[in-house]
Amino acid sequence: MKNIVILISGRGSNMEAIFRSLQAESWPARIAAVISNRSDAQGLGFARAHGVPVSTVLNTAYASRDEFDAALAAEIDRHAPDLVVLAGFMRILTPSFVQHYAGRILNIHPSLLPSFPGLHTHRQALEAGVKVHGATVHFVTADLDHGPIVAQAVVPVLPGDTEKSLSERVLTQEHLIYPRAVRWFVEEQLLLENGLVHTRDNIEQHLIHEGCQ
Ligand code: GRF
Repeated sequence: MKNIVILISGRGSNMEAIFRSLQAESWPARIAAVISNRSDAQGLGFARAHGVPVSTVLNTAYASRDEFDAALAAEIDRHAPDLVVLAGFMRILTPSFVQHYAGRILNIHPSLLPSFPGLHTHRQALEAGVKVHGATVHFVTADLDHGPIVAQAVVPVLPGDTEKSLSERVLTQEHLIYPRAVRWFVEEQLLLENGLVHTRDNIEQHLIHEGCQ
């Protein structure tokens, strides 16, 4: 049974998708805790209502990034995590924090990395005029929004798309690929070699939304 700790800052819809898949598919894993840097993170309500231990480590309570990350790591490590899942966790993490969880920390980013790291990815995609966009699950490294790619989902960019319509199309796919990627980790499918990620059983690591074929 693997312990998963999920970090959120807001809505928590990816956390919810992972929780629901874990339950529905009976993974050999449990969500040991959901931790947020904000006490008003909407997703905490879902976690509490489903009996998942929640806690907060408020970044505003710490004078420096190093102190916050040390407190966060201490809280995470109380739950002996096999995997740390960043799910809309809106904090830049220090290299020593990332190093501490090397190979056992995943993030989802709403773009086809390495395109459009950072914020406002859907706006960046619309402004660049790309015809496909998507989301990426990756291992976290000290390099923001970079790191070995575990899975990607591709969606079309349609005429008339707005940031809202595009983000909704991408989010639907996020809710499919993130649980899938976490399950692969739990089932020890993921092989990380020379910065590239393969699956032991050669499972397809991409998802292509209709309209892209
Ligand atoms: C998602 O779009 C995710 O890719 C990004 O932040 C958003 C979080 O949404 N990192 P939610 O909190 O999971 O609903």
